[in-house]
Amino acid sequence: MNDFEVHTSSGTKRPTHPLPQLEQVELKGMLDWLSAYGADAQGGVTRLLYDQAWCKAQHALAEKMQEKGLAPEFDQSGNLYGTLHGRGMGSGTGMEEAPIVTGSHIDTVVHGGKYDGAYGVVAGVLALEYLQKHFGAPKRTLEVVSLCEEEGSRFPFAYWGSRSITGVSGLEDVQHLKDQEGITFAQAIRDAGFGPNSSYRTASHTYGAFIELHIEQGQILERLGHSIGIVSDIVGQKRFSITVSGEANHAGTTPMSWRKDALAGAAEMITAVRNIALEAGEPLVATVGRITADPGVGNVVASRAVFSLDIRHIRQESIDRCWHNMLQEFSRIAAEQQLGLNWEEHLSVTPIPMNDQITSDIRDICEVEQLSYIHMPSGAGHDSQIFQPACPTAMIFVPSHDGISHNPLEYTAEEDLMKGFRVLVQLLYKYGYGS
Ligand code: GLV
Ligand code: MN
Ligand code: MN
Repeated sequence: MNDFEVHTSSGTKRPTHPLPQLEQVELKGMLDWLSAYGADAQGGVTRLLYDQAWCKAQHALAEKMQEKGLAPEFDQSGNLYGTLHGRGMGSGTGMEEAPIVTGSHIDTVVHGGKYDGAYGVVAGVLALEYLQKHFGAPKRTLEVVSLCEEEGSRFPFAYWGSRSITGVSGLEDVQHLKDQEGITFAQAIRDAGFGPNSSYRTASHTYGAFIELHIEQGQILERLGHSIGIVSDIVGQKRFSITVSGEANHAGTTPMSWRKDALAGAAEMITAVRNIALEAGEPLVATVGRITADPGVGNVVASRAVFSLDIRHIRQESIDRCWHNMLQEFSRIAAEQQLGLNWEEHLSVTPIPMNDQITSDIRDICEVEQLSYIHMPSGAGHDSQIFQPACPTAMIFVPSHDGISHNPLEYTAEEDLMKGFRVLVQLLYKYGYGS
């Protein structure tokens, strides 16, 4: 935490563009509206890529964009864009003239909350509506994007929305993947009405800049009492599926020392994950969030156990070293217990710093708006880390109550949502309408 650069605005600068009637923006109302798509009885939201709730939400958003005067358009991946066409003049920011884009993702984790991703999408739609209403057409085109997928919750592949836009990945990389029900990605995209045989344009798209407004999903802002987090770097991550193979046998007749118990081996490996991560120290984090066992019967020794592994740090060499140590330990445990071991890496993204120019423009806005802010790294992954190598990219965080996220209890007070919105509107005003 000592690494954070902490600032409280001096209050000496005056707003250059006072924003009329900002308090009338229906941010909270629209977030509640969107959360009804995929809502469950416990107050959570589950919208998985191309499932029914996801389809309904994305199409309802397209209608909202239409109502708000933002020409909506889908691409073949199911990303949805709302455009506020510019008058074609230079913005003077030095960025090339491709659109300035804001937004985030529409998908959620299973039983997630209503702010992760959705906040950036809803805020983007309302920011463009607001700007058009109060300032007319911008000089430079502004866009909001509702990215189809970021979480990797349905298929073992994350950031599909931003990866398909930037050309980092195409359908050929994902079409064979299967979800928990055995449905292939190729079938899911087709059933949702997208893919290469749909009437939509290809996903590839050029952005002049990408700006993502998001909840922090951690406790730093709330604990330190700041309104805005200006993201300095986004962590790198590796994600794996680890498969441990043993032998199914009778729970009553197989002596403990003669077993090849895949689940017992996996349990020891998971303990090793925790110990190695603790030993590496902060900010390294490693998580096993899912495990399945076969045959999954109470009186049968498990023949197979598969668990997920997610490792993150802001330095690539720390991630690599940690994985190396874990693999060594997994191999030792497998050999000792006569178990088979296999692993599949299905995500590897490097840590990435955000764009200096946009970051410093966000800082200036916080000063002008008298909002206290800090520069901080993001421990969560975001589409912004996929966009940053392709175009100047930055992120704005607002506090998450109690730091809870990926949970139905995820919550950000309306006042905090509005502060982030205010910064976003000012930034889009600067890039879209600046001289
Ligand atoms: C995405 O939300 C992630 O960081 O797992
Ligand atoms: Mn998330
Ligand atoms: Mn998110």
